[in-house]
Amino acid sequence: MKNIVILISGSGSNMAAIVRAAEHDRWADRLNARVAAVLSNRADAQGLRFAKDHGIATGVLDHKAFATREAFDAALAAEIDRFSPALVVLAGFMRILTPAFVAHYAGRLLNIHPSLLPAFPGLNTHQRAIDAGCQFAGATVHQVTAELDHGDILAQAVVPVLAHDTAPALAARVLSQEHLIYPRAVAQFLAATA
Ligand code: GAR
Repeated sequence: MKNIVILISGSGSNMAAIVRAAEHDRWADRLNARVAAVLSNRADAQGLRFAKDHGIATGVLDHKAFATREAFDAALAAEIDRFSPALVVLAGFMRILTPAFVAHYAGRLLNIHPSLLPAFPGLNTHQRAIDAGCQFAGATVHQVTAELDHGDILAQAVVPVLAHDTAPALAARVLSQEHLIYPRAVAQFLAATA
């Protein structure tokens, strides 16, 4: 069985979309894969409750308890590796990862970013897209490399930027598309690495 470990920091709606797809589309039978664990750097991440309710192991590792980014990432990797993951999925995990962490999971580490990469890596993507006068925005599923928000693109979704759009309204429009493309991209990744 291929284990998927999902990392979250907040609401975890992308994680929930992946868990629901795994259940609905019977990934255990069809892809020999399952969501084995959901880990968070924040104890108050709402997504942890959803994961528990779906019978998934959860864990919290508070980054503030570690002196350095390297120490946190090493402890996080140790926690992740307890599940021998075939795939590690970043789903709103709001931490910059060290090169050592990324190298350890090379080729089995995916992220979703709320912009049409390579446009707008980093934070505040929706406001930046509005400010730039973009007519379209979206989200990107990509392989994670040492360079922030780079790496091979696996999937994208495009939404219009509307007249008088606000960042929260655009974020919600993009997020609804994230929930479609991320589970699909994860399933395709798993099928391709059979
Ligand atoms: C999503 O929009 C995701 O693309 C974004 O955070 C949100 C998490 O929502 N990720 C990043 O900004 C990564 N730099 P969720 O917790 O409900 O899935």
